Amino acid sequence: MATVNVALGERSYQVHVENGALDRVGYFAERNRISGKAAIITDSNVCPLYAERLIQSLQDAEYEYSLHVFDAGEQSKNLHTVEELVNEMVAAGHDRSSFVVALGGGVVGDMAGFIASIYYRGIPFIQVPTSVMAQVDSSVGGKTAVDIAAGKNLIGAFHQPKLVVADPTTLLTLSPRVMREGMAEMVKHAAISKPKMLQTLQRLADEIDLGFSLTTIDHLPELITENIEIKARIVETDEKETQGVRAFLNFGHTLGHGIEASVPYGELLHGEVVSLGIRAALYLSTIHGGITEKESNEILRTLKALELPIELPAHINIETALAKTATDKKFSSGSIRFVLLNGLGSPELSTQVTAQDLKNALIHLTTPLN
Ligand code: GLY
Repeated sequence: MATVNVALGERSYQVHVENGALDRVGYFAERNRISGKAAIITDSNVCPLYAERLIQSLQDAEYEYSLHVFDAGEQSKNLHTVEELVNEMVAAGHDRSSFVVALGGGVVGDMAGFIASIYYRGIPFIQVPTSVMAQVDSSVGGKTAVDIAAGKNLIGAFHQPKLVVADPTTLLTLSPRVMREGMAEMVKHAAISKPKMLQTLQRLADEIDLGFSLTTIDHLPELITENIEIKARIVETDEKETQGVRAFLNFGHTLGHGIEASVPYGELLHGEVVSLGIRAALYLSTIHGGITEKESNEILRTLKALELPIELPAHINIETALAKTATDKKFSSGSIRFVLLNGLGSPELSTQVTAQDLKNALIHLTTPLN
């Protein structure tokens, strides 16, 4: 088993990564002195797959629990669902001595974490992430949020979990497409912090063709742990994204979010738009940052090996994607804070990128990669 410490003073916590760890959530909770009754929040996809094992592990450790399930999908990540779940929790007898267990992918973690941050003005929570993106990125760092009509993640709070338990075997039930999209966040981590990981990802790419097998899964805890280490060190340096360091994690996300918002929900997966956003950011990095074409190609080769999209689908309207990018919350008081690379593993937060640059980057995405 690997354990990553996230050192944040009194908000410090541990992330445990282990094949089969789902059956030990109760044990880890007890060891971390988490007490009270558990409110398990999960979605309609994950519940039938993994809730029973989680419940068994909590019962083994003599925790009382209640189970709260919402319809899977980003469209549920809103204040209406929050109110429904909170009402259910009250009806199930939870008070300020309870804790939340978020079982699922990014949507579950974001929304269950948000509920934990506001329920009785804040109660502890455990993240049990079951997607690649949630295991290597969103379950660590305490960002919680829901979407509103004006945009994604616009209402939320920083609320660190008390514990994260990541079981890579839960990834076995993901489709190859969903597996691949989650790996875009690993490419991001490699690009901003650990270029050596690009080769590992290129090697792994072949194995996803058939979906992850149990043999592949043997190697996953190490890779996932490596990614969590990267995320943890960044969060420790800049917990609330005020120092410009945590913002490096937005590499590839600014234009990615614009593209995501310009197509009907679900047409492109989050990691797929991040992949497009990374290519756009690399293009801008060759203009305003110091990255070489050779270095940039190394990242593009990895995205391609993972069969992630690097060319903008023909029906996407560049003006719409641009307008959606302009409303992205990463624009602070009119000036764009854009993450560029000066080299592999060497990010910077730049204010030099203009609206015309963004348009050119989107146009660049329509050209085939040679
Ligand atoms: N996923 C970006 C962050 O946690 O800051």
